[in-house]
Amino acid sequence: MTEAVAPGKIIICGEHFVVYGEPAIVAAVDLKAYAYASFVDELGIHIYSSRVSEVSLRPIHEVIKLLLESRNVRLDNRGIAVSINSEIPISAGLGSSAAVAIASILAVSKLLGLKLKKREVISLGVRAEEFIHGRPSGIDPTISTYGGILLFKRGGRVRRIKPTKPMEFVIADSGIKRSTGIMVRKVGELSSKYPEVFLGLRYTMRKIVRRAMKAIVEGEIEILGDMLNLNHGLLSAIGVSNSKLERLVYVAREVGALGSKITGAGGGGCIIALAKPGESDRIASSLIDAGAEAVYKARIAEVGAM
Ligand code: MEV
Repeated sequence: MTEAVAPGKIIICGEHFVVYGEPAIVAAVDLKAYAYASFVDELGIHIYSSRVSEVSLRPIHEVIKLLLESRNVRLDNRGIAVSINSEIPISAGLGSSAAVAIASILAVSKLLGLKLKKREVISLGVRAEEFIHGRPSGIDPTISTYGGILLFKRGGRVRRIKPTKPMEFVIADSGIKRSTGIMVRKVGELSSKYPEVFLGLRYTMRKIVRRAMKAIVEGEIEILGDMLNLNHGLLSAIGVSNSKLERLVYVAREVGALGSKITGAGGGGCIIALAKPGESDRIASSLIDAGAEAVYKARIAEVGAM
C-alpha cells in the first residue's frame, strides 16, 4: 500500500478575480487530506471515504482513469483501491476537494511507480476541479502541490512569497455549506451583465494583491490587515457574502483583528482573521461566541503534497 498527503489552503487575497486572470495570494495550511492506494482483486478503480461525499469522489475516479490512460497503464486482471481520509472541512473554502484529488493522484502514481512532475500532478488536479466547477483557476491544486505561500496567476508561473514576520490567521467556519461552482457562476453572470464595472473591480483587486504582497514581504502586518478588509469589501460587492459571514468578519475586527475577510468562494464556508501576535486565541473564542461552527488557528504548511 502507498500513502500520500496533501494540504488544504486559505486564500489571503484575490479569490474569484483570480478566475479572470488576476493575481492572488494563497497559503497552504496544516489541515490535510490523506490517500492510501493498493492493488485489489476486483477489477476497476474503487474510491472509498467515510467523510467525503459520493459527488466529490466521482472526479477522483475520473482523474485516476485519466492518469492510467495517459501513461498507458494496463491493470490486466486486478484493480486499484484508493481510500481517502481528510481533516479539511468540506465545501468550506479550504481547498478540500483539490487536496483530496492531489493526495489520490500521488498515492496512485507511487503505487504504479510513476514519477510525475509537479505540473503534471497539478494539471490532473485541475481536471478533477473541472468536474466540480466549470471554470477553476487552478489555484487550489497548485498550492496543495507546492505548499508554503504563493503568488498565483492563472496560466502563469507561481512565485514563492517569504514573509519576514510570522502571520497568525484564525479561520472560522460559518457552518454554511455551499458550492464553489454556483458562486463562480453567480460572479460570472454579474461580470457579463456589467463588464465595465467588473473591469474596474478587477483593477482594484490587482492593486490590493500587489500591496498585500509587499506588506507580507516587508512585514507590514497592519497594512496586510487593511488589504484583507479592502478585499472583503470587493467580495461583498460581487455578491458572495451573506449576513452570517458579515457578522463573523465584523466581530473579528471589533475584537482586535488587524483585518478579516471571506476566504475561498464565499456564500458560506470560512472567513479568515489576521491576529496581532498572541491574540489569536481571544479572536477565536469571540468567533465561536458569535456563532462560528468551528475555528482553527492556521499554521502555514511549508511542505506541499508528498
Ligand atoms: C476557490 O478556492 C477560489 C475561487 O477563486 C475559484 C477558483 O479560483 O477556482 C472562487
